[in-house]
Amino acid sequence: MVLSSSLVTIALALCSALGSNAAPPTAKPTTAVGKLPALGWNDWNADGCSISEAKVVAAANAFVSRGLKAAGYQYVNVDDCWALKNRDSSGRITPDPAKFPNGIASVATQVHNLGLKMGIYSDAGTNTCAGYPGSLGHEDVDAATFAGWGIDYLKYDNCNVPSNWTDAASPPGGNWYNSNSAIRYRQMTAALDKQSRPIQFNLCIWGQANVWTWGSQVGHSWRMTGDASATWSFILMAINTNSQHLSSVNFYSHNDMDMMEIGNGALTTQEQRTHFAAWAFLKSPILLGTDLAKLTAAQIAIITNAELLAFSQDPNIGVPAKPFTNAGSPSTSTPEYFAGKSSKGTHVFVINTGGSTSTRTVNFSSVPGLGSGTFTVHDMWTGKDIGKFTNSYKFSLASHDTAAFRLT
Ligand code: GAL
Repeated sequence: MVLSSSLVTIALALCSALGSNAAPPTAKPTTAVGKLPALGWNDWNADGCSISEAKVVAAANAFVSRGLKAAGYQYVNVDDCWALKNRDSSGRITPDPAKFPNGIASVATQVHNLGLKMGIYSDAGTNTCAGYPGSLGHEDVDAATFAGWGIDYLKYDNCNVPSNWTDAASPPGGNWYNSNSAIRYRQMTAALDKQSRPIQFNLCIWGQANVWTWGSQVGHSWRMTGDASATWSFILMAINTNSQHLSSVNFYSHNDMDMMEIGNGALTTQEQRTHFAAWAFLKSPILLGTDLAKLTAAQIAIITNAELLAFSQDPNIGVPAKPFTNAGSPSTSTPEYFAGKSSKGTHVFVINTGGSTSTRTVNFSSVPGLGSGTFTVHDMWTGKDIGKFTNSYKFSLASHDTAAFRLT
């Protein structure tokens, strides 16, 4: 009897080491945080692996000095490459002392002292994408380490997945929540759940394993695509991909369109406006991805636009704007007309995906929940009423720009 029960224990331990967990955890993400899309910053898009305490603390200070904290930006997030390549003798991930000479907890304290929150990065595989320790099989110790340091947000990546953890073509019962991918993430949800500190959980799973169908049972947000680039084609692709899965978005449940590229590359002002507006009206996390000190006043004006941020952060309405068919407009490969509600009324967003300035007409009877009649058209970019219009509103829109209106 004693012998057979220890055999069972050994068999279970083996199964778990091999990845075929008998009873994968079903803990749900905390609701103490993560109701609204995260607003913040992450170093990766600007700096890649060259991260340091100095850069993180500079970003946190820039949140205050450049008005980002006042606008609602909160999370100061460290991405890959912050650790040493090997765990310490007790199995804990160790910050690289060349990059973080005072450790991560000290940086978190500095960030918290500014009234901000601190995020970190790990991976649901053996190693991160850049080859630093991953958390698969180390979930409990890593979650406890992060919580002990005062971490508020975890981005959890998807590189270096062992072959015994890859997904079958179809998951058990056809439910992707039971796929190996989901279980790798569920193990971290359960580990985070055991901590006394609530930690917002982002699944960096690049739109794999139908994550939009189960993401909200496991985390607060999930990446929908591969990595962002500072290009118009990426912005269009992200809008297009997300537009197909907007029924997954609500409070505590956000498709992540990836980190912002405003300030990087050569996006036009209009493209930057579309990048920010779409991330706001589709209720994606908005994590700035550039050296905040170098943002121009015009860029700061875009990313602190109070009305678009209010739409993103509406405490009463969790659903995003959705595409609609505007009578008289040609169909386009990426939707151009979106509408949604906020606490303040009905909003319409129009993207010019074409290569030249052109005239657009919003037909009020096409807008879900509006109907024909006379409405005051308010420009969310300028914060000013444009005027009263009956049945439609006609305007000129520059190539790659987005117009943002409230209709009341
Ligand atoms: C990718 C991820 C990026 C960044 C990078 C770090 O998988 O999508 O956002 O975190 O890894 O190595």
